[in-house]
Order: sequence, then C-alpha cells, then structure tokens
Amino acid sequence: MSHVDIVVANASELLTMVGPDGETHGARRGAALGHVGVIEDGAVAIHDGRIVATGPSRDILASFDAGTLVDAKDGVVMPGFVDTHTHLVWAGSRAWELEWKLQGRTYREITEAGGGIPYTVKETRQADPDHLAALAAERARDALHHGTTALEAKSGYGLDELSELGQLEAIRMARGRIHQRLYATYLGAHERPPEHRDDPTPYLDEMRTSTLPKVAKRGLATFCDAFVEKGVYSPDEVRPLLIEAKRLGLKVRIHADEFNDLGGAAFAVDLGAASADHLLSISDDGIEALAGSDTVATLLPLVPYAIRDPTYAPARKMVERGCIVSLATDFNPNVPCLNMGFVVQQAVYAMGLAPAEALVAATVNAGHSLDPEAGLGVLAPGHPADLVVTDQATHVHLAYAFGRNHVRAVVAGGRHIPL
Ligand code: NIG
Ligand code: FE
Repeated sequence: MSHVDIVVANASELLTMVGPDGETHGARRGAALGHVGVIEDGAVAIHDGRIVATGPSRDILASFDAGTLVDAKDGVVMPGFVDTHTHLVWAGSRAWELEWKLQGRTYREITEAGGGIPYTVKETRQADPDHLAALAAERARDALHHGTTALEAKSGYGLDELSELGQLEAIRMARGRIHQRLYATYLGAHERPPEHRDDPTPYLDEMRTSTLPKVAKRGLATFCDAFVEKGVYSPDEVRPLLIEAKRLGLKVRIHADEFNDLGGAAFAVDLGAASADHLLSISDDGIEALAGSDTVATLLPLVPYAIRDPTYAPARKMVERGCIVSLATDFNPNVPCLNMGFVVQQAVYAMGLAPAEALVAATVNAGHSLDPEAGLGVLAPGHPADLVVTDQATHVHLAYAFGRNHVRAVVAGGRHIPL
C-alpha cells in the first residue's frame, strides 16, 4: 500500500473528463464534447498537488493509505471549473444600472449616458493596488466556494499606463493570497480612454510602445486582450498592438463579435489567438473560421442574461460545426457573478448545450484555452489535483437543479478545502 496525501472516495460519478479515446490533453470538439469519462463509485488518490490514480473506490482504497480521506458521500466528483474570462479587478459598483436596464436601456445606451466601463474606470483609477488586490482575492475566494480552481483576470479599468500596471500588480499580489491558479491578461484596449474618446491613436501608440513592453518585462501578464466592437476598437486599430504582444511572448484573447459582427472571430483566428470570447453576433464565416482553428470559442451566457437581451451565442451550431466551445462567467460590474455552476446551467437552459457538453466546456476546453500543457480540467495521473466534491448524484443533476451551489468541498493544488 502506498501512502498519499488525500484520497477522495465514494463518488457516485467520478467525472474524469478523459476523452472517448483516452485523451488526457487537448480540446474536445463535436461528439467528444459530450464525453465526461464517468467512473461509477469512483475515487481519486492525490499526492504532492498531483493526481496519482483514479478508479473504482474499492480499488483505490485497497491500494492507497491516505493522510486525509474525503468521503464524497455519493455525490459527483469532477475537475474544478476553469473560468477563463473574468474582470476581477475593479472598484465601486454599478448596481444602480439595474434600474436603467429595467427601463429598457441597452448596454451601449447605458455607457453613453454615464455608466458602463467609463464609470468603473473613474472608480478604479482612484483605488490603490493594495485595495484592488484585496478585492480580487476576496472575489477569487467566492469563485473557489463555487468550485473554480483556476481563473483568468483582466486589467482594463485603468485605460492609462499607471493604472493598468497597477491593476496587473494587484492581480500579482492577489495570487499569493488565494488557493487557485490565477492567470493575468493585459486589457488596456478595453475601451477608449476618456482623454482620447475621438481619436484613440495616441493611446494605442502608448500601449504598444510603452505599456506593453513593461507588462512583458515585469512578467505581469500571460495574455493581451482587446475589445473589438463598433465604437470601441476595430481589428485594424488593435492589430499592431496584438502582433507586438505576440512578439513579446504574450498570447492573445479577443472580445469578439459581441454586439456587432466586425469579423472578430476570423480576426482572432488570423492572430492565432488562444480564444475569441462573447460571439453573440458571430457570422457563419466566423463560425467556419473558428471550426478550422485551435482558437477556443468562449461563450459567456451570463452576459445576455445581465443585459436583458435575448440574443445568446449560437452554441449548438458552433458545436455541430466543430468549434472548440468553452464557457466562462465574464465576471465584471455588469455581470457580478463568479458561479460557474450557474454558467453551466445557463448554457444548458438558455443555449441548449447538453449537461455533459456544458461541463466539458467549463473544464477541459476552458483549461485548453488558458494553459494547454497544464492538464487543467482533466482528472488523470500527473494532472493538477484540482477538483470539487458536489452534493448531486449525477452530472445531469448538476445542470438540472439550477440556482444553487452544489459544491461541498474543493481540492485546489492538492489542498483539501472543506466548505
Ligand atoms: O466582457 N464587453 C466588454 N467588456 C466587458 C464588460 C465590462 C463592463 O461592463 O464593465 C465584457 O462583457
Ligand atoms: Fe469581458
């Protein structure tokens, strides 16, 4: 019998997320998206932050003697969620916008009337990095409570060099205070700064020639992102910035085709982006471009919900054409929710994904877009010991029973965190 740190046993279903042909890495498309790799009455052995073995509880309990035995009590055990799109760092609140939404105002109208990103920029510029780090850490703990064991966080509420770098510093500081892996994204091109509303050229130049080199040199971000949208930035405006980001060793993510189709999906593919996100207004050509690429389509079903717009991304079509579909919260002052379980439920009820598809999208495919070599979102030997214990008996129930948190315990980086 070998000794291990933790055994999690008695899972009604252990969702390993190992693919139909035994794949432990890489994205899942088409029919493979619906494959959760169930081991009934399953167990996982964990040592030194890694998974050592998975299998039927009887075999694992007979082979390993555990420092800590976690009884899953006939609940589903699955990989922790990977939330690849969050705006984790901002000050203030935009709760007051809800009243405007209820009056029927659109996201763009709210922005033009003094709300939206520019409002949060004003609040965030006044906050120091220590305060922002505390907010980010507190929000990451909320995400952990809902089963998220790896997440991405963007800057983008500074829109000037000093305050964008401050937000990335805040993300770095938060990293030491939380249990999850936290990946940083420089999103200086989130909006036009108030100082350069009419002509953003000087700001685009500043980002490319001054801020980005500092971000790269200080190792402050893995990714560079841009909001490609009518009235914000066109593909031509941000192309030089994103090409320079790649030259400096950053990877690219794009806010693409959210309200208007500016060819954002094809632009992301062209740049070899890790992901194209939102895609509510994606064209058929955009879908074909993504389907023929390794760029992950990140769908954010809480956005139409939050802005009270019935347009959801064409998730079924994208799965059927062979896009790599993943899911994320898009946590931000407009979408104040870090509950990936609710994202899965919305993906099923509002976008028509099957429960298994939504769960694979929120784990394996999300992990692939964030860190393709790390093995996030799959429970297999050698992979990170990031998993959740739930109080539901089947993976279908995780999607079916909406509106409550099913997570009972989390193992993050090999540490058991009872909730
Ligand atoms: O991803 N669409 C652009 N940016 C954010 C919204 C940020 C905000 O409203 O503060 C998004 O949804
Ligand atoms: Fe976003």
